[in-house]
Amino acid sequence: MMLDELNLYEKSEAREFLAQLRAELDGFLEGMKSAEAISLKPHRNITSIVFLGVGGSGIVGDLLSDITAKRRDLPIICHKDYSLPPYLTKDVLAVAVSYSGNTAETLSAIVEAYDAGLPMFGITSGGLMEKICKKMGIPIVKVRDGLLPRMAVPHMLGAAVSVLTNAGLIKMSADELRNAVENARRAQESVEVHVGLESNIAKQVANQIYNKVTFIYSHGLLSSVGYRLKCQLNENAKMLAVNQCLPEILHNDIEGWSPALANCLAVVVLRHKDEPLAVKEALDRMEVFLGEQLGISVSRIVGDGNDDATKILSSMVICDYVSFYTAMMRGVNPIRVDRIKSMREGIISNSRLLEQVAKRFEVKP
Ligand code: F6R
Repeated sequence: MMLDELNLYEKSEAREFLAQLRAELDGFLEGMKSAEAISLKPHRNITSIVFLGVGGSGIVGDLLSDITAKRRDLPIICHKDYSLPPYLTKDVLAVAVSYSGNTAETLSAIVEAYDAGLPMFGITSGGLMEKICKKMGIPIVKVRDGLLPRMAVPHMLGAAVSVLTNAGLIKMSADELRNAVENARRAQESVEVHVGLESNIAKQVANQIYNKVTFIYSHGLLSSVGYRLKCQLNENAKMLAVNQCLPEILHNDIEGWSPALANCLAVVVLRHKDEPLAVKEALDRMEVFLGEQLGISVSRIVGDGNDDATKILSSMVICDYVSFYTAMMRGVNPIRVDRIKSMREGIISNSRLLEQVAKRFEVKP
């Protein structure tokens, strides 16, 4: 089987990507460490937290929202656009996340948040964001540079957890995340390249989906991991994927499936052992209907662990390996994202926006 041939992983882009993949779990710990230097001014009246960021950086808010769903009294809003909605007022804490620090949408939202007087902190590796935050007096966590933004998600997530727990805004200890990281190492080991297809779930899933548009189905706790898998398949494996969640799937999507789609579409379902009974029943029923009755390829990825953070981290690690193996099956370079780059650079309004921001804060773009 192709994915079991270890020389496949000798090509430079595969080696480079694998190195970042293998370092992901340590990234959470490193991110937490990078955040030790900053502490937020005490804000007693915070009513919600808004994450500002797009793409790989934007996922940080989605994942944190799921990890801490049961551990906080405040809602987390993930805002992925230039302009802030008007309901965000001074009692909302903004967390600005841009790995490159040069993303026009995020910088625009940061400046709007600053002008609206929102308390804020940032997470970045540098760029224009670092420069303007210094001018605005906004604390930033600087994470290590030189990674792919999507592979720096653990660093940025670790940093966010550390700052928010220290500020008492989420009731989670840094030790809980550390524990989840250690637990997720088992999941990572089980999908490593030396583990053969027969017992490697990530290789098995890649083998099922590599030549099909993939629908990722999940519920609640794992919905952000579903979104992460969609984005990783887009960026690493250069393929289309769709992310949908229960219960909506059974109220609309389900009507669209037919046996004729088995040649071009596949389904990946994200599961865990503590699903509420109704969700478990619904997902089981859906899997049987799609797989056995319609003949669609349905693969299941189970997030291991007893706590939410472990379930999320272990399924995310497996999903990231799925995207890597899928890239290998498709013969594409998992590192390069030329279209994203050319879209970002080709939008003249974005370049102007960055120039204006630099000019306003008197820094070099
Ligand atoms: C590239 C990637 C992209 C970027 C996005 C935003 O690896 O994942 O989705 O994350 O273009 O850029 P940053 O994260 O630098 O703000």
